Amino acid sequence: MLEALKGKRVLVTGGAGFIGSHTVDRLLASGATVLAYDNLATGILENLNKAKGSTNFRFEEGDVAQAESFAKIVSSYRPDAILHLAALVSVQESIQNPGLNFERNVYATHAVIEAARLSGAPRIVFASSAAIFGDNPHLPLGEDSAVRPLSPYGAAKLASENLLSGAASTYRLNVISNRYFNVYGPRQDPKSPYSGVMSIFYNRFRQGQPITLFGDGKQTRDFIFVRDVAEANCRALASKLPGNEAFNICTGVSTSLLDLLSVFKEHFPDAPPACFAAARTGDIIHSLGNPSKAQRLLGFEAKTTIRSGLSIYLDSEVGTA
Ligand code: UD1
Repeated sequence: MLEALKGKRVLVTGGAGFIGSHTVDRLLASGATVLAYDNLATGILENLNKAKGSTNFRFEEGDVAQAESFAKIVSSYRPDAILHLAALVSVQESIQNPGLNFERNVYATHAVIEAARLSGAPRIVFASSAAIFGDNPHLPLGEDSAVRPLSPYGAAKLASENLLSGAASTYRLNVISNRYFNVYGPRQDPKSPYSGVMSIFYNRFRQGQPITLFGDGKQTRDFIFVRDVAEANCRALASKLPGNEAFNICTGVSTSLLDLLSVFKEHFPDAPPACFAAARTGDIIHSLGNPSKAQRLLGFEAKTTIRSGLSIYLDSEVGTA
């Protein structure tokens, strides 16, 4: 399926970020030509070290929410597809700063749609999230499960999906929303308090510091390795599906934080005991996806188990893997 990407021009917003840079690497390996666009707010250029060696790669610094300049870049690049990953990625940060969440997670999507419409780009693949489902107890979640976001972040991702759906019908754009579950792996920034739990745990274990579990640690997530997510993004970009589609990008395997902790402890047997703190506002208790639609229509299957993904992650250094 990825042969369809050969010679295609793909613009990746958030291309210097965690998921973006892995997807750029996969796109280049598939023979695509890539323009990575990033404001470097959370992305870093080191993530693109491998990509920079390719003559099919270009980087441009800029903010998608600066709609006019972004539209100019898109019009001159004339992409066959846009992968829109640039975003504020933390549920907790969206609660602290809902205005920034709106700008980066809703307005920016509008800017991408406008740029695609004006330049004639036929396809947008969007980074949506399992957070749109909120605490839906009917697990595993299918694409048609009821949505009820619990945070400004989840609400913004759902609003973006709706904007894209409207644009797909009105302007005949082809749209795919890939709803990522909990993504982890090399290049995930561990420094911010808003980082994903895996990267925070990794950082603390490496420094010999105790980790904190918010709640009782029995909350569960569907953790998916970043290179599997890059593959799902490439398949969505290569797909010929018309109109508007959504996919749950997940493994279908449920892991509690306590389970995760025991896998970490195999690598860090002398780690200090975990601390416990109150559960976070807006936190979902159980999240688990059903991967069958992505298998059926994109031919996508997450191949990396949590054990092997964690080993690869623990062996990596930021920017090199
Ligand atoms: C994550 C992603 C979000 C994505 C969503 C999809 C991040 C920062 N967020 O949100 O972009 O759309 O999955 O489902 O990657 N926790 C601790 N201790 C810590 C840190 C976190 O116990 O030090 C707990 C949290 O309270 C939560 C769980 O770990 O219960 C996961 O938290 P987090 O990694 O922030 O991800 P989500 O909120 O699930």
